[in-house]
Amino acid sequence: MTAQGPTDQARTYPAPDTFKARALVDAQTYEKMYAASVGDPDAFWGEHGKRLEWIKPYTKVKNVNFTFGEVSIKWFEDGTLNVAANCVDRHLATRAEQTAIIWEPDDPKTPARHITYRELHEQVCRMANVLKSQGVTKGDRVVIYLPMIPEAAFAMLACARIGAIHSIVFAGFSADALADRVNDSAAKVVITADEAPRGGRRTALKSNADAALLRCSDKVRCLVVKHTGGQTTWVQGRDVDVLEMMSHASPDCPPEEVGAEDPLFVLYTSGSTGKPKGVVHTSGGYLVYAAMTHELVFDYHPGDVFWCTADVGWVTGHSYIVYGPLANGATTVMFEGVPTWPDAGRFWEVCAKHKVNQFYTAPTAIRALMAFGTEPVEKHDLSSLRLLGSVGEPINPEAWNWYNTHVGKGNCPIVDTWWQTETGGHLITPLPGAIPAKPGSATRPFFGVKPVVLEAESGKLIEDTAAEGVLCIADSWPGQMRTVWGDHERFQETYFQQYKGYYFSGDGCRRDADGYYWITGRVDDVINVSGHRMGTAEVESALVAHDKVAEAAVVGYPHDVKGQGIYAYVTLMHGVEPTEELRKELEVWVRREIGPIAKPDLIQWAPGLPKTRSGKIMRRILRKIAENDAASLGDTSTLADPGVVDDLVENRMNKG
Ligand code: WTA
Repeated sequence: MTAQGPTDQARTYPAPDTFKARALVDAQTYEKMYAASVGDPDAFWGEHGKRLEWIKPYTKVKNVNFTFGEVSIKWFEDGTLNVAANCVDRHLATRAEQTAIIWEPDDPKTPARHITYRELHEQVCRMANVLKSQGVTKGDRVVIYLPMIPEAAFAMLACARIGAIHSIVFAGFSADALADRVNDSAAKVVITADEAPRGGRRTALKSNADAALLRCSDKVRCLVVKHTGGQTTWVQGRDVDVLEMMSHASPDCPPEEVGAEDPLFVLYTSGSTGKPKGVVHTSGGYLVYAAMTHELVFDYHPGDVFWCTADVGWVTGHSYIVYGPLANGATTVMFEGVPTWPDAGRFWEVCAKHKVNQFYTAPTAIRALMAFGTEPVEKHDLSSLRLLGSVGEPINPEAWNWYNTHVGKGNCPIVDTWWQTETGGHLITPLPGAIPAKPGSATRPFFGVKPVVLEAESGKLIEDTAAEGVLCIADSWPGQMRTVWGDHERFQETYFQQYKGYYFSGDGCRRDADGYYWITGRVDDVINVSGHRMGTAEVESALVAHDKVAEAAVVGYPHDVKGQGIYAYVTLMHGVEPTEELRKELEVWVRREIGPIAKPDLIQWAPGLPKTRSGKIMRRILRKIAENDAASLGDTSTLADPGVVDDLVENRMNKG
């Protein structure tokens, strides 16, 4: 640890010398490679694209236009490959008997599963043949609504194998959310399980799927993994016992040749307006980028055991449980459970049990575990750990220090990785052997990534190294999303309209005098609850769908564990009594409309909402009240009825 010069966050943490001695990228190499990557992207990515096995090698590398109205992003466009063959088949010659996936079940008493690359190959082929038997062909959409079980990875890779496009819906989403996604992508098949165990409890996943499918075309097939053996209703002719079918299916399934720019998956994510949008990632560029970031950011060496604690329902699970690690022939841990069950030592027990070398989690999990003290950490042997990672939101210095001291024992570099569903992989992150960490900073860009800081209002580029504004990216990288499913206009409007010529991330940031980036959070109406993205508009539309609600406005507020909590202002229909029962009813309602992650933490009854004379809700004011910062409300004189603010301030829920 060295104290460092004049910049504001004085302390930097270089990796320990023992780590640096075998690190894949050192400081000099980083600078050299970074300069090469932005200096000549065609040459740089032309070279690094070779980390994959191509059926037909590409001759073109980058073909990108960021001009609003003409946005088009293509990488390796004339190459063909198969993603599953890259993640599985090509490792068979050298590591067929190596474990590909370690599955750690929810209940620690249930034995873990070690799935070798050979076994993975067989399961993926069988599952692919089952999909084919259900009429799924290249380009078809398959919705995956599964718990964190190996079948989720088999299903992803089975889709990739036959060129079908998967769309994973997080198992915590409601039947309605599932139906919306099945319909938006016009999926042919839904793959689900009877039940999803988590933290000793079980979610009736299949019955959610049943409810969802009532709202979908009756042609949609439902493939059910009998995981717990729990009771489900069975719809003859629609429901298929997928494990049973896999046991009869052929263990051979030749991989389909797909274009580099053919979609690999769609993943729905929240934005500031409207319904979640289907982020489309394609095959070649995405896999190059996921694999390369996985290797270099986590300093992954052959034989290491890598654990990303995310769910495959989020992009982090896509890129860093399945695609990145498996493309690299890694051993990846897949964990079905939660950090606090049966006790708050579960993460560390699993690290010790499987001798995890790289551990990647979210600040919200760290904060939740900090509350249990250090005893659950000290109890377990964490000597296998070499590197720690963080993702999902800025990591606060307290959590960073706790992670560093108690989990890493001061010996593990921490990589704070900033990225998004849209970016496919890490964009700003330390390379651990090259870039000393500063707690709370995602540090510097990955290869090929050109972050810029713009003035929020004017969009003017800030050239000085020290800068604060909105974070945009000036040029494409191979892992970038290509479009919004079925709505290229929305893609352009969301990401390329406001700041012309740039990809707009939706985040604000500060760049310090050392050129380090500090993400300051979303500048749009997206909130980040326990590292999960939630559009305030989505929660609002769920609330107003209730027949007792006239109007609703939702904002984020600081929450000790979740990072941000959901604060809802609700105006009831005329004559409806605001009661505790109704508050509960609305909470349950939102859970059912979207899922448990969207449940408001605080609901305030609002006789009126602060609006401008033209009827626009002044969220700035609502945010201040929710943040318990009424003192800095600023000018309220432009409001149609300034009196409503006094009432809201007086009755605010967040008294803490
Ligand atoms: C936030 C998750 C600060 C950010 C991979 C971004 C972060 C949004 C970090 C994307 C980080 C993610 N530091 N903020 N290291 N990582 N974010 O799409 O606001 O679920 O825009 O992707 O999470 O969330 P998403």
